[in-house]
Amino acid sequence: MSDETKKKPLRSRHWYGGKDKDAFIHRSWMKNQGFPDHVFDGRPVIGICNTWSELTPCNHGLRTLAEGVKRGVWEAGGFPVEFPVSSLGETQLRPTAMLFRNLLAMDVEEAIRGNPMDGVVLLGGCDKTTPGQLMGAASVDLPTIVVSSGPMLNGKFKGKDIGSGTDVWKFSEAVRAGDMTLADFMAAESGMSRSAGVCMTMGTASTMASIVEAMGLALPTNAALPAVDARRMALAHLTGKRIVEMVEEDLTLSKVLKRENFENGIVANAAVGGSTNAVVHILAIAGRIGVPLTIEDFELGSDIPLLVNCMPSGKYLMEDFAYAGGVPAVLKQLQDGGQLRKARTVLGKDIAAYADGAEIFNEEVIRPYDNPVKPASGLRVLKGNIAPNGAIIKPSAATDALLDHEGPAHVFESIEDLKATIDDPDLDVTPDTILVLKGCGPKGYPGMAEVGNMPIPGKLVRQGVRDMIRVSDARMSGTAFGTVVLHVSPETQAGGPLGLVQTGDRIRLDAKNGVLQLLISDEELEARRANWSPPEPEYTRGYAKLYVDHVLQADKGADLDFLVGASGSHVKRESH
Ligand code: FES
Repeated sequence: MSDETKKKPLRSRHWYGGKDKDAFIHRSWMKNQGFPDHVFDGRPVIGICNTWSELTPCNHGLRTLAEGVKRGVWEAGGFPVEFPVSSLGETQLRPTAMLFRNLLAMDVEEAIRGNPMDGVVLLGGCDKTTPGQLMGAASVDLPTIVVSSGPMLNGKFKGKDIGSGTDVWKFSEAVRAGDMTLADFMAAESGMSRSAGVCMTMGTASTMASIVEAMGLALPTNAALPAVDARRMALAHLTGKRIVEMVEEDLTLSKVLKRENFENGIVANAAVGGSTNAVVHILAIAGRIGVPLTIEDFELGSDIPLLVNCMPSGKYLMEDFAYAGGVPAVLKQLQDGGQLRKARTVLGKDIAAYADGAEIFNEEVIRPYDNPVKPASGLRVLKGNIAPNGAIIKPSAATDALLDHEGPAHVFESIEDLKATIDDPDLDVTPDTILVLKGCGPKGYPGMAEVGNMPIPGKLVRQGVRDMIRVSDARMSGTAFGTVVLHVSPETQAGGPLGLVQTGDRIRLDAKNGVLQLLISDEELEARRANWSPPEPEYTRGYAKLYVDHVLQADKGADLDFLVGASGSHVKRESH
């Protein structure tokens, strides 16, 4: 038998394959769930890694989808086993779900490695669940495929569509400006989230699902089909069938996920107007699978036109995006524009198979490559003496006139300082002011919270101002918008120069040329540095201490330093 045709023995046989005491123990206890002998006959065992939780409302449909996956696994001759991992509800967890993304990744990694499975289906949706699961799975490297929650149906308020997050920020500013009643604000709350699924704007969840599809890690149409669309259940069923085949083909994650896939993800992120959060997640996944990728690589998307007219960069929602053709239609446009790299997918075929024959059914929602919503709108990487290791901005969600601007800084030393003073009528700010927020990076917050889209100062909101330049070491919600410079690295807490900015300093932003510069002399900067000392750490025990001690900076993906890379799937010792 040649090497190509020789089948690799299934990993699960190390648990279920023998006639000794250990195999007895592994099978016997599983039989308490009513599994007959023959399911242990050497068929592929498929783990269904589920982030379902009632505290992660965006993932509450995943139990149903898991049943769809199981149907497909049984049909293809596999043995499905569903298992829970920790779940991260973006809207519920304090101080921020991002603090726990790496904890989820550890949980997923160890759960996959330690248990008898030959392939794994990742069921995620809400922002951090998709990247956390992929990071963990990459460090084990079994055949792996993703099924996403899918977006909620469009939000509705007073007969109009409203979008998760994006309209919360808008309505909140309207209330502060006196343009919306509190009663209307409260009424909008119930109409915004009216079905299972993730935020139906192109927030981080749908961004990550779109990227995952463009990287060939999920079946076509996975990203946009609404959570409650029956076709998503069918997609889960087909995914269950496909993972069994992937095990038979020994199509592991590292055989799919190469640099070209990451490049397609970066380009697709630009075309869909995706979240800035994709940067830290893609970098972290690349670090696990061993693909060299840097923050500078995100410039690959900077000339890509914005093709998807969804909030927060545009006006439609994910339900509209699905009916207009979804990610396959975008991939077809990128292919026509010469921007789609050849890259293997979970189908075992090139990504071109996803684009084949994909049509746009509504050109208001998905634009042709040569008639985009906006030209050259991908994320921009900024460098300068405030951000020597980089910062990012999302021009598609910014005010064009502010993308080339110089102004005086107003500094908030902490999030508490901001909250206490932002509505002070005497705050010394004008629309030209650049708001600077310190102490919200990975170590500082901790967890790099989504507070970078600072509210506009109350006195300016009342004057009708809706956007200003804001600079911080924080992230922002994928549903947010504005001329917001994020992920400044190194962060304040790590001794980054952002911590040396003072109110009144002038700052220059030139997004087109990738410049973010504090206009003071090197000598002055050095003098301030000599007087700077790091704040006392707030967390002295538990996971938060482990995180603060080991988290990498944003330009490296904010993974924990000892988690970068992979350990494979082998476990040397038995449990008894
Ligand atoms: Fe879960 Fe937006 S809060 S997807």
